[in-house]
Amino acid sequence: MNPSARLKPIGVFDSGIGGLTVLHELMRLLPRESTVYFGDTARVQYGNKSETTVQRFALEAAQLLMQHGIKFLVLACNTVSATSLTLLRQRLPVPVVGVIEPGAQAAAARSRGGHIGVIGTAATVESGAYQKAIAAWRPEANVVARACPLFVPLVEEGWTRHQVAEEVARIYLSPLKAEGVDTLVLGCTHYPLLADILSLVMGPEVNLINSASEVARVVRDELERRDLLGQASRPTHRVLVSDGPERFSRVARNFMGEDLGPVELVAVPAAAAVG
Ligand code: DGL
Repeated sequence: MNPSARLKPIGVFDSGIGGLTVLHELMRLLPRESTVYFGDTARVQYGNKSETTVQRFALEAAQLLMQHGIKFLVLACNTVSATSLTLLRQRLPVPVVGVIEPGAQAAAARSRGGHIGVIGTAATVESGAYQKAIAAWRPEANVVARACPLFVPLVEEGWTRHQVAEEVARIYLSPLKAEGVDTLVLGCTHYPLLADILSLVMGPEVNLINSASEVARVVRDELERRDLLGQASRPTHRVLVSDGPERFSRVARNFMGEDLGPVELVAVPAAAAVG
């Protein structure tokens, strides 16, 4: 492996701000890697858009990150991972990892009785990606999935401990509780920030699976396996957005509890048509 390839940054892509939960885990586990994060804030939310539209956005974002010389692409967004992973793997010259497979594997391994709940955006739940990935690891598992579209705006608003969030969680999660799930996959970038409320509603005996921390471990293993592990003594971290860098910085403080530094506004290149 050419040593300069190892010094290239890891690209992290999300529809907006929620993928910072993944970036945070990556920076913690891989402190000597440089990163370029792209949040498509001009077009968020992806979770209530069609598969074709999300795939087009994903190709365009990937093209942008390739222009920044990435060596590896992490799809922090569950909706993108659920709908576009195969397509991006076909089209890109760098390895691509999504959050579904690591989250599904962890859920299958940690569930005591095989009763697994999955929550995510409408697009993620409708794609069936988590359901399929869990079944591949644990075919006898009983998987119940539920879209929770109001969670994203609640988190964006910073209402992660608000009584309204708790009430919404009780409504969304009641069918999963009735099914007696022992493990709940937080299948959306924003949901780890609601973990306290979700745990309160589900009860302490239910495992919560955070796909963000699971994917960081997979990225480390993949980099190692491909001889791409970075050893930068002064890694750099760039954050790019397609709209509203000031708002992004502000909301980011809730997500990462720290200042991101400068957030750059970029234009997304148009990609070749999907299909
Ligand atoms: N990042 C998305 C996900 O993880 C949530 C926000 C959106 O709908 O774009 O599915």
